[in-house]
Amino acid sequence: MTSPAARATKLRQQLEDASYRYHVLDEPNIPDAEYDRLLRELDELEAAHPELLTPDSPTQRVGSAPSSKFAEVRHAIPMLSLGNAFSESEVRDFVRRIEEKLERPVLKFSAEPKLDGLAISLRYEDGKFVQGATRGDGASGEDVTANLRTVKAIPLHLRGKDWPQVLEVRGEVYMPRAAFEKYNEQARLHGGKVLANPRNGAAGSLRQLDPRITAQRPLAFFAYGIGLVEGGELPDTHSATLRALREWGFPVSAESDVVEGAQGLLGYYERIGGKRDALPFDIDGVVYKLDDNAGQREMGFVSRAPRWAIAHKFPAQEQSTTVEAIEIQIGRTGAATPVARLKPVQVAGVVVTNATLHNADQIARLDVRVGDTVIVRRAGDVIPEVVSVMLEQRPAHAVPWSMPAVCPICGSEIVREEGEAAWRCSGELSCPAQRKEAIRHFASRRAMDIEGLGDRFIEDLSDMGYLASVADLYKLTLEDLLEMKRRVDERDGTTPETVKAGKVASKWAENLVEAIDRSRATTLERFLFALGIQHVGESTAKALAAWFGDLELIRHLPWPLFKHVPDVGGEVARSIGHFLDQPGNQQVIDDLLARGVRVADTHAPTAKLREGLNLSTLLVDLEIPKVTRIRADQLGNAFVNAEMLVDAPVHQFVSAGLPSESANSLAAWLEVPEHTSLLLKGAAAIHRLLAAVPETEEAVAGPLDGKTVVLTGGLASMSRDEAGAKLEALGAKIAGSVSKKTSLVVAGEAAGSKLAKAEELGIEVWDEAQLLAFLDKHA
Ligand code: IVH
Repeated sequence: MTSPAARATKLRQQLEDASYRYHVLDEPNIPDAEYDRLLRELDELEAAHPELLTPDSPTQRVGSAPSSKFAEVRHAIPMLSLGNAFSESEVRDFVRRIEEKLERPVLKFSAEPKLDGLAISLRYEDGKFVQGATRGDGASGEDVTANLRTVKAIPLHLRGKDWPQVLEVRGEVYMPRAAFEKYNEQARLHGGKVLANPRNGAAGSLRQLDPRITAQRPLAFFAYGIGLVEGGELPDTHSATLRALREWGFPVSAESDVVEGAQGLLGYYERIGGKRDALPFDIDGVVYKLDDNAGQREMGFVSRAPRWAIAHKFPAQEQSTTVEAIEIQIGRTGAATPVARLKPVQVAGVVVTNATLHNADQIARLDVRVGDTVIVRRAGDVIPEVVSVMLEQRPAHAVPWSMPAVCPICGSEIVREEGEAAWRCSGELSCPAQRKEAIRHFASRRAMDIEGLGDRFIEDLSDMGYLASVADLYKLTLEDLLEMKRRVDERDGTTPETVKAGKVASKWAENLVEAIDRSRATTLERFLFALGIQHVGESTAKALAAWFGDLELIRHLPWPLFKHVPDVGGEVARSIGHFLDQPGNQQVIDDLLARGVRVADTHAPTAKLREGLNLSTLLVDLEIPKVTRIRADQLGNAFVNAEMLVDAPVHQFVSAGLPSESANSLAAWLEVPEHTSLLLKGAAAIHRLLAAVPETEEAVAGPLDGKTVVLTGGLASMSRDEAGAKLEALGAKIAGSVSKKTSLVVAGEAAGSKLAKAEELGIEVWDEAQLLAFLDKHA
C-alpha cells in the first residue's frame, strides 16, 4: 500500500512530466482525459490530507482570491525594448555596426520569432517560482504573480539541475491564434466583449485582478531571455542559454535558430515570413541577437535598447480603409453573414477587398456604417475582419446599418431564431444561393467526393436550370453538359472549344459524368454528411451511421431518438428532425436513391441502443417541462405504453407519484396535438428499433471485430476487467494467454512473461496511454 504522501508525489511528478512534454517538448504522452483524471485524483488527495498541499502543486493553477490592485515591482535589471529594422539595408547596417565595433567578420546571431504578446519577467529562488511582473515602463512593472501561476506553460518550479540560486527568466505571454478565435466566437455567441486581437487578449487576461478569470483564459508562454542571475552561471552564448531554459522547463520557440552574418539573418526573415500564416501564434517580426554574450557586453546599450539586438518587423496585419458597401452573403444553411466591401487595401502583403462582419450583433456593437473608415485585420488564413471604426472620420450623413428584411438573392424573408446570433434566409433550397452552397458541400471531397465539379460548373449548371437539387446531379447526361457549355460560350461570347480542339473538348464532360457515377457508391457516414443538415458535421454523421447503421431507419426517426447517440444533444437532434420533417428533403433522398446512389455499409443498429429504448427515456428526451428523469421513471413504471399515457387524466399522473406541478405541466404539454403525435411517433420508433437492435453487441461491426486481445500487467486508470469489457464492447475477444492467434497485447505496469512472449512473436503491444487514446477515440 503506498502512503498518501508517496502517491501525491508520484501524481505530481506524472502531471509535471506530462505538462513539460506538452508545453515544452510539444510531444504529449498522455491524452487530455488522462491528465484531467490524474489531476482530479491529486486534488482529492490534497483535500483529504491538507498537510500534503504545496504552493507549487499542479492543482494550484486555478487562481487564488482577487486583489484590489497590483503591487509595484522594481526590475533588478531593467527590461529593455528593441530598436526596429524595416528594410534589408537597416539589417545590413545593424550587422556592420557590430562588426566594426567588435572588429570581427561574420558573426553568429540567434534569430527568433518576435511574438506579439506581453513581456514578463519571472523570478525563481532555489528553483521555485516566487514572483512574476509585467514589463511596465521597463524600470518597474506590476506584480502579476497570482495570475502567472495559472498559466500552465510557466513552470512553478524548475526541472533538471545546475540552475542558479536566483534566476529571472524573461519572455512573452501570448494567446495562441486558435484559442483567440474560439474565445471570440463564444463572446459573439453570448454577446460578450470581443477581443480586438490576440495581443489585447493576452494583455487583458494578464491584467485581471481576479486570477480565476486569468485561469479561464487560454494563455501560453515562450521564454527568450534572462534578467538577474545570482549564485550560479549561465552558458556563454544566447542560444545555449535558450537550450538550458528549455531543460529547466520553459517553452522556447522551436523556430529559434543560429545564423551567420547579414545574409543569414535575411534568409531567416524570409523563411519565417513564409511560415507566418501557418504559425499557431501571431508574430510581428523576427528578433536578431548577437549570440556571444561577451560580444553583447562589449556592444552595450543606447538609451533603452541594446546595440546587440534588433527587431526586423513584418508588414502590419492591420490597415485602415473605407467601407463602400455592406452586403449580405447567404451560406449553405441560409445563414446571412454581413460582409463589408472595402476600398482595396494591402494588408500583410495581400490586397483585401472584403471583410467579414460576422453577424448583425457584431455590426451593432461596432456600429459600422457605409462610408466609415475602419481598421481591418488579416491574420493567418482566417478571413479578414473589421475590428474597429475610426469614429472621428465618420462622414456626417452615415446611417446605421440594419439587416435587410428579405434575401437579396431569392426574396424570401430573413428571419432570426430565438436565442440565435445568426439571421437566416427562409428560402431553403428554393434560394439559389443556398442551393449552390448545398451542391458545393454535397460534392466536396469529404462528402460525396465528386471530382472535377468545380464552383464554376455548379454556378452555371444551377443558373441554367440543370440542377434544382443535389439529386439532379445524378440525372446529368453527357449531352446536358455539352449543351450547358455551348450556352455558356454563347453567353460569354467565347469560342466553343469544340471548334478549337475538335473531339478532345468533350473529355472533361466524360470525366465529370464518370466521377458522378463513381460517387454513387458511398458510405452512410458520407451520405449523411453530404445532406448538409445544420449542425451535422463529419463526426456527428459518423456517430449517427455507427449507432443506427441504416438510412431507411434514420430517415424516419423522430428527433428525440437521435439524442441516444453520444454527443448529440437537443439542439442537434432537433436540427436533424427538422431536416427530415421537410417533405422536400425526403424527396431529395428518394430521388438520390432512385437515381442509383447506394449506401454500401448498411448494418444493424448497435446493441448499446437497447438500454434507452423505453417509455421513460423517451419522456426525458422529449424535454417536457418539469418532467425529470425521476418523474419519467415513475411514469414509465405506471403506464404500459404511450397510448395509455396520452389518454390518461391528470390524476393518474399524480397516482404514478408525480407532484401536482409536474403532473399539470405534463398534462398541459399533452394538450398540444403536435406533442402527442411526437410522443406516439417516438413510441412507434422505439418498437421498430427494438426489433432491429441485436441482443448482444457481437452482431455489430466494431473496430476490434475479429481481434483477440490479451491484457497483462497493472493498469493505473482502471482494472483489467474494466479494460476488457471496454475492448469487448468494441468487438474484441479477450483471451488469457498469448499465442500466434493473439492480435494485440495491452501491457500495463510490471508486465512479465506475456509481454515477453508477445515481443518474441512480434505481436503488436500497446501501453496504457495507447489504450486510453484508442478508447477515447472510439468512446
Ligand atoms: S528580446 C533586450 N526576444 O518585443 C532584448 N523580445 O520590442 C529585449 N518580444 O519587450 C527583448 N519576442 O515584449 C525579445 N524573441 C524575442 C521577442 C521579444 C517578442 C517583445 C518583447 C519586447 C519587445 C521589444
